Amino acid sequence: MVGQLKARRAAGIILKVIKQGKIAGRAVLMAGAPGTGKTAIAMGMAQELGQDVPFTTISASEIFSLEMSKTEALMQAFRRSIGIRIKEETEIIEGEVVEIQIDRSSATGVGPKSGKMTLKTTDMETIYDLGQKMIDALGREKVMAGDIIHIDKATGRVTKLGRSYTRARDFDATGGSVKFVRCPEGELQQRKEIVHTVSLHEIDVINSRQQGFLALFSGDTGEIKPEVREQINQKIAEWREEGKAEIVPGVLFIDEIHMLDIECFSFLNRALEDTLAPVVIMASNRAITRIRGTNYRSPHGIPLDFLDRLLIISTQAYSEAEIKEILQIRCQEEEVDMEDEAVDVLTKVATETSLRYAIHLISTAHLVANKRKAPKVQVQDIKRVYSLFIDQKRSIQYLKNYQDKYLFNEVQSSGPGPEDDKMETEIVA
Ligand SMILES: Nc1ncnc2c1ncn2[C@@H]1O[C@H](COP(=O)(O)OP(=O)(O)OP(=O)(O)O)[C@@H](O)[C@H]1O
Ligand SMILES: [Mg+2]
Repeated sequence: MVGQLKARRAAGIILKVIKQGKIAGRAVLMAGAPGTGKTAIAMGMAQELGQDVPFTTISASEIFSLEMSKTEALMQAFRRSIGIRIKEETEIIEGEVVEIQIDRSSATGVGPKSGKMTLKTTDMETIYDLGQKMIDALGREKVMAGDIIHIDKATGRVTKLGRSYTRARDFDATGGSVKFVRCPEGELQQRKEIVHTVSLHEIDVINSRQQGFLALFSGDTGEIKPEVREQINQKIAEWREEGKAEIVPGVLFIDEIHMLDIECFSFLNRALEDTLAPVVIMASNRAITRIRGTNYRSPHGIPLDFLDRLLIISTQAYSEAEIKEILQIRCQEEEVDMEDEAVDVLTKVATETSLRYAIHLISTAHLVANKRKAPKVQVQDIKRVYSLFIDQKRSIQYLKNYQDKYLFNEVQSSGPGPEDDKMETEIVA
């Protein structure tokens, strides 16, 4: 990323405290004009946090749905952003298959099967009795003598790790996909600690009897009863005391926060005080505007009592040099070769219109340059697309000039419309 140093430093500090797991329940607001990189910074934070810390991104408008109340949708987003790291000890068996013997109980070959399997490590060899379930599992994995396998004792799941090196010469023709591994050492049975992280929401869904875990895959989770959540919170508190689970507070990013209404804000007020709350990061490009659901106006459309709880990071407009650098990065990313003069012209366009508009011109100018078989995008291509696609200002001007020809024209031709209808694009300091 380019420039925006203050905001990025602030974001860096927030990241540090998130990683230490200390500031669950805090909320951060990123405020700034459109196109100043608010969403980009939030995405950068998500990447920096890595896989293990849950990061949920929603746009504030997403929570308005007919299927679910808005507070339920917010609650689910909250709980999706809290990870539970669960430690489990399981017993596994790992070894090389020496022999598999399967007996059929009757001559017809139907009916339950039983059998024996000999497994070995470099140090020992044991014969195991096989039940029907195990035989099926082995069959599914196409396990043969000479394979190194891994069996999870609790679930009975069989995983084929590869073929043993010692058997490498038994077959002349092996496919390219065969992986050879060493025969394991030591005991056949081992205890292993495995750690997995699931989100609180996933636990909720699995435990809500109506839907069951299949809802996780269909995405249709419905509303979850408060009692279920209560029970789960208790269970997790128990696990924590026993040292079986650990809470990983993650991040919930709510973009376009001004789309939330007054009810959501008061819900957030309360929800942030919960012991199991993530860090909430919000972004808005609105100045003083109406709070949705009321007739009051307030900064960013956020009620003052809620605003008071937030740490506010403001993003500033970019300087010309920074814009140029951002455009160059974009060119690289889109694999567009652009002459330096063309980049200069584009920078000029960006300062006069907007960064987003200039970014859109990159790929379109590339297409125009391709069409005239030029190896690089030149000034003339930028000029061409600048005349083909109009920006917001020119669009407004155009509408003002030709408004009489359009349907549903509300602005009187005599002059600008009423003060209230003006778009608020300016941000107040
Ligand atoms: N510092 C930066 N470095 C590199 N690219 C940037 C930077 N800031 C913004 N951009 C690019 O500019 C574009 C607009 O940024 P972004 O979407 O983050 O704006 P925003 O602040 O979220 O605007 P809005 O309020 O309209 O949502 C994106 O394509 C982003 O990649
Ligand atoms: Mg944005």
